[in-house]
Amino acid sequence: MDIAVIGGTGEEGFGLTLRLARAGRHVIIGSRYEEKGAGAAEKARGILGGNAEVDGTSNQLAAEAGEVVFVTVPYAGQADIYRSIKDNVAAGRIVVDCTSPLATAVGGRAWQVIRPWHGSAAEAAKALLQQGVRMVAAFHTIAGEALQNLDVPLESDVFVCGSDAEAKAAVGELIDQIPNLRWVDAGDLSMARIVETLTALLVSVNRTYKVHDSGFRVTGRDTWGPPGA
Ligand SMILES: NC(=O)c1ccc[n+]([C@@H]2O[C@H](COP(=O)([O-])OP(=O)(O)OC[C@H]3O[C@@H](n4cnc5c(N)ncnc54)[C@H](OP(=O)(O)O)[C@@H]3O)[C@@H](O)[C@H]2O)c1
Repeated sequence: MDIAVIGGTGEEGFGLTLRLARAGRHVIIGSRYEEKGAGAAEKARGILGGNAEVDGTSNQLAAEAGEVVFVTVPYAGQADIYRSIKDNVAAGRIVVDCTSPLATAVGGRAWQVIRPWHGSAAEAAKALLQQGVRMVAAFHTIAGEALQNLDVPLESDVFVCGSDAEAKAAVGELIDQIPNLRWVDAGDLSMARIVETLTALLVSVNRTYKVHDSGFRVTGRDTWGPPGA
């Protein structure tokens, strides 16, 4: 399964690229600038070495190639990016939106959020894509820095939101391939209204305790993953 990471040149997307490529996936980094995407891919191959399969190109070509398309861009540019890839993401494809609507998009603070009209950034994104695209929201509680630090196991849980159970399970399978990472089915896509804001909460905790990698572990069960398992 080929994975596209739109905005994979940035903190979160580059970290996801490293983790997924190290798990054996072919990852295509997308950028607004083709050469920047290619440069990030070269950097990822340099870090991972061996047989790592990472390529880089434009957001549009990456979106077209990815069977699962991660979108890791700041909220300020989210709508433009989705409009720019709309024609490249066919119905049936899985899109994983990782956007947190931090108030930095409007000149505010990273520990504050704004409320998108549709309820969440993921729901806004879904409204911009073709009908039939399977939207999932995830990774808001996993820091880009932690993803990029391959020597350190990830500790925070991933909350996965979406209305398509099969799409969530497919994303969950990818998450399971990243060592030590657990995913929790957080419910319908509208639950992204809560989950997206957790990034701001972690920024605030990081700030208070002067750390970079606070996170969440959900209690109440020994294992999470697919409900019913
Ligand atoms: N970083 C984290 O630890 C973290 C944690 C949880 C959630 N998130 C969320 O994940 C998303 C990405 O975060 P990030 O820290 O990776 O962001 P970032 O590094 O600032 O940006 C990611 C990429 O998005 C593109 N981009 C930047 N500004 C843009 C704009 N105004 N319009 C369109 N594209 C733009 C750039 O790619 P090109 O120039 O190559 O096109 C950039 O490399 C955000 O929504 C953030 O809230 C981040």
